[in-house]
Amino acid sequence: MTGICEGRVAIVTGAGRGLGREHALELARQGAKVVVNDLGTTLNGVVEASGPARDVVELIRAEGGEAVANGADVADFDQAAGLVRQAIETFGRLDVLVNNAGFVRDRMLVNTSEEEWDAVIRVHLKGHFAPLRHASEYWRSEAKAGRTHDARVD
Ligand SMILES: NC(=O)c1ccc[n+]([C@@H]2O[C@H](COP(=O)([O-])OP(=O)(O)OC[C@H]3O[C@@H](n4cnc5c(N)ncnc54)[C@H](O)[C@@H]3O)[C@@H](O)[C@H]2O)c1
Repeated sequence: MTGICEGRVAIVTGAGRGLGREHALELARQGAKVVVNDLGTTLNGVVEASGPARDVVELIRAEGGEAVANGADVADFDQAAGLVRQAIETFGRLDVLVNNAGFVRDRMLVNTSEEEWDAVIRVHLKGHFAPLRHASEYWRSEAKAGRTHDARVD
């Protein structure tokens, strides 16, 4: 595929469904090689057995693009490191990180449980920090080695 992202490698977290899925599909249509991350949770954060990331990868490949699936929990520090490593080992570089994974619980302040609060904060804060932390370490080491990346984080 050719487009404005030709030659670039992108990670999209939570890309098995919804907005992340659309980000991944469009990045691939624009020529990016995409790591499609999704641990496969429902809207309420419950883990599913199926693999929505794999479905998106198959769709990208059917359209002529390049993609691989990743099932990491992005709020797990080590799994997030593995996600970044997979992009670099599979496609040789990383240029774009779309921190999309997350969920909200449909609650009001008065009936939100402590567990629900912790889960939402975890996925939206640590789930953004951990992939960015590892991606930034990679970009910093690349820059120190004289290899600059026109990196983008969303
Ligand atoms: N849809 C909206 O109107 C809206 C509005 C404001 C913000 N957002 C935010 O935008 C993002 C995408 O929203 P959406 O409506 O497309 O959500 P969605 O539920 O359709 O998709 C989110 C995906 O993230 C995945 N995910 C959840 N936790 C994960 C984790 N720890 N690691 C990896 N993957 C994980 C889920 O499995 C799911 O496939 C979310 O962060 C959401 O909070 C959405």
